[in-house]
Amino acid sequence: MKILVINGPNLNFLGIREPDIYGKNTYCDLCEMINEAAKDRNVDVTIFQSNHEGDIVDKIQWAYFHKIDGIVINPAAYTHTSVAILDALKAVNIPAVEVHISDVDSREDFRQISYVGKYCFARIAGEGFEGYVHAMDEIINKLK
Ligand code: DQA
Repeated sequence: MKILVINGPNLNFLGIREPDIYGKNTYCDLCEMINEAAKDRNVDVTIFQSNHEGDIVDKIQWAYFHKIDGIVINPAAYTHTSVAILDALKAVNIPAVEVHISDVDSREDFRQISYVGKYCFARIAGEGFEGYVHAMDEIINKLK
């Protein structure tokens, strides 16, 4: 099974940005954790991060041509603004799970809207880095 993990803007700054919200572990730590979890589950994982909306759209389209089975996506701030990312997910029609490290539901009002959430079949928030592994398991279970 092939899974693509997409991380949006400022997630490359994990460990530096607002550690009280996102924790002290780095983006590298996150990638290591995802790679290990994928190995344990016999999943072929690709991890991608970008600060640019169009690059994320391009990577979602890439997933179509590379026959990716499932997408785990933390669009970060684009969650709350991007119709383009929502439309890209709809276009490729690959099962996707939305992930947030923090508990977005208990944060500012502007974080209560999720465009990608209108496509994703599950949403995991507030579980820290573990949320990505949880999301991977949701995809594996769905595709079983
Ligand atoms: C986030 C939550 C978003 O509201 C925020 O813009 C982020 C990270 C999270 O993982 O908790 O950058 O997606």
